[in-house]
Amino acid sequence: MSPNTDFIPFARPSMDSEEEEAVLRIMRSGWLTTGAETLAFEKEFAEFAGSPRALAVNSATSGLHLALEALGIGPGDVVVTSPYTFTSTAAVARHLGAELAFCDVAPDSYNMDPGALEKVLASTRNVRAIIPVHVGGLPCDMDAILPLARRHGCAVVEDAAHAFPSRSPSGFAGTLGDAGVYSFYATKTITTGEGGMVVTANPKLADRMSRMRMHGIDREVWDRYTSKKASWRYAVTEAGFKYNLPDILAAMGRVQLRKADRFLAERTAIAAAYDAGFSGMDRFRLPPRGDGHAWHLYSLRIRADRPGPGRDQVIEALGEAGIGASVHFIPLHLMPYWSERCKLRPESFPNALSMFEETLSLPIWQGMDASRVGRVIQATVAASGQAGT
Ligand SMILES: Cc1ncc(COP(=O)(O)O)c(C=O)c1O
Repeated sequence: MSPNTDFIPFARPSMDSEEEEAVLRIMRSGWLTTGAETLAFEKEFAEFAGSPRALAVNSATSGLHLALEALGIGPGDVVVTSPYTFTSTAAVARHLGAELAFCDVAPDSYNMDPGALEKVLASTRNVRAIIPVHVGGLPCDMDAILPLARRHGCAVVEDAAHAFPSRSPSGFAGTLGDAGVYSFYATKTITTGEGGMVVTANPKLADRMSRMRMHGIDREVWDRYTSKKASWRYAVTEAGFKYNLPDILAAMGRVQLRKADRFLAERTAIAAAYDAGFSGMDRFRLPPRGDGHAWHLYSLRIRADRPGPGRDQVIEALGEAGIGASVHFIPLHLMPYWSERCKLRPESFPNALSMFEETLSLPIWQGMDASRVGRVIQATVAASGQAGT
């Protein structure tokens, strides 16, 4: 198919012979699971993010679970997050027997509203942890959230699944709270297919997460394999999980990490081209901006207060034009489980609701050329019934 008629996916991993060679090297090495390659990936990632410790895991969901577990979250505790996220941000607290409280996102932002957070903290007992989510790669207002958390004695676990690499004047997103968690899921900016990384500056948390990630065993598999001490002897000190990242995926991750800044530059340029294409048109609201945006998502709003097709119709028309679009997110308070569990109604979070009803995520990926970006702009403008087209 020619570049003008081919399908444009919403996300596409960016891999070449470097990743292929790295994976082949591990396949031929005789050691596939967590070992020297994963240790090297952790070390390089920690240096890149400027964090003392980084622990590779098999998903961001596992990383969030490990972080809350290491903080001692359990029955009787409450964890606060915003409803504008993926379900696993909140589900991990339930796995530990804790309850959730949600606070709305800021108007015209997909991120937690510090004012709403303050009200939830003032009116909710037993809040032990806050999970700010850097939605789409735009860092949350950590300068407001961190002092609030300290004042209320809460830990902070940053859901930085979308926010790599994201440098704001306050620091590298994910490294500012007690722990931060990144995702390397297939659609993420750097990917290992499935995978994630947890960072922390707290050695006690790091040690606990490291042990719980591997069955609660007191020695890593790699240590048992390479150590001069009896390789078969180990002790189980906790009922742990199986959340390690294998070397075969870490090899891919190391190559992707080296390309991360180039990937960010490409995504930033695509976002700027979209901004230029949609600005000044009254059917659209452009994504919120701010320093350190990682541009994992380009979320455009199709204004419901202007006449013309709605968000769902625009997505359908884009599909017919060979363009994949998505929606991030269906807020959790609209999901049967969370609305029942936390007794929430659609109107409970008006900002999240109105943003959800208008938002779609347009294709943004490394290697997406100007002609494809142009096709997406043209098709979106046409589908939205923007006057003057
Ligand atoms: C905001 C957010 N947090 C957490 C996750 C979970 O990531 P993973 O698929 O790596 O477990 C996702 C998944 O995309 C996400 O969007």
